[in-house]
Amino acid sequence: RDQPLVLGIETSCDETGVGIVRGTSLLANAIASSMEEHARYGGVVPEVAARAHLEAMTPTIREAVAEAGIRLEDVDAIAVTSGPGLSGALMVGVGAAKALAVALGKPLYAVNHLVGHVGADVLRAEGEGDIELPTIALLVSGGHTSLLLVRDLVSDVELLGETIDDAAGEAFDKVARVLGLPYPGGPQIDRVAASGDPRAIRFPRGLSLPKDRERHRYDFSFSGLKTAVARWVEREQDAGREVPVADVAASFREAVVDVLLTKALAACADVGVPRLLLGGGVVANARVREVARERCAEQGVELRIPPLELCTDNGAMIAALGAQLVMAGREPSGLDFGADSTLPV
Ligand code: KG4
Ligand code: ZN
Repeated sequence: RDQPLVLGIETSCDETGVGIVRGTSLLANAIASSMEEHARYGGVVPEVAARAHLEAMTPTIREAVAEAGIRLEDVDAIAVTSGPGLSGALMVGVGAAKALAVALGKPLYAVNHLVGHVGADVLRAEGEGDIELPTIALLVSGGHTSLLLVRDLVSDVELLGETIDDAAGEAFDKVARVLGLPYPGGPQIDRVAASGDPRAIRFPRGLSLPKDRERHRYDFSFSGLKTAVARWVEREQDAGREVPVADVAASFREAVVDVLLTKALAACADVGVPRLLLGGGVVANARVREVARERCAEQGVELRIPPLELCTDNGAMIAALGAQLVMAGREPSGLDFGADSTLPV
């Protein structure tokens, strides 16, 4: 079959995602999020996320099936995120996917969440052209900050670098807290930063010193930046000065965006691949998109940004990658795999 009907389940963090695709066509992308339940803790609480997945799973599957206008028994295969992510959260998705595969008698494919983000790109609208490989992929969310070299979606994905401490989205959330802005902080900082001066304060660019150029060339670090912002704000408060929130937000955002794109474009240049694909919730950031467009144009790099609902965690990207596996004639995963919170690409 060249156009398999695949249902994908994603539960690696706080989004319960169920997507349905036919080959590279998107039929449904149902999502339930427990984000509001985590707001008062200022970050995702694993236990709370796992329980929310359990409650949302059946309704979200039903919603996706209705949206796609299919019958559940018509799907050709099930795909599920088996990692990386929060262990308890992943287990809910893996358990549900196994139950569905057994009940329906359909093959089951375990897929990697990060590769799923790249797979989202095959679902773009007709006429926009297929993803050209190899490509560099920069995936930035509340849970990960990774730079990948993708030569083949189903068989050749290489991790070039990742964060050695906080994810970029996590840094946005933590700095927002320092500035007294609500969770999730990314969109708040983005909004406030619009009226600030990005050059007001020079915050550090993690792992960008000459000594980091060898071992940590493609790695990221945001915890030092977060601490630098917190210290700066504290000093102002201690001195009895009013904190220029917009300038701090803009300067912080600039530091994150600068380091993300400097490293991604260094990878493009080093590897000789003039293509960059973005994914993850932080891609919603206005400045990320702006700087990405500017610098890619300057360096002659083709930039691809999937629609935002396919950038944030979702089930459709998992279904899309599952369909790629089916179309490549890959063997299903069987039922013996588990959730792997640190699954490598
Ligand atoms: O991909 P996502 O929806 O979920 C995971 O974390 O896996 O990403 C959510 C993250 C949060 O940390 C949120 O603060 C950040 O993406 N985010 C943003 C923006 N919108 C969401 N960060 C910066 N600017 C934004 N506009
Ligand atoms: Zn993700």
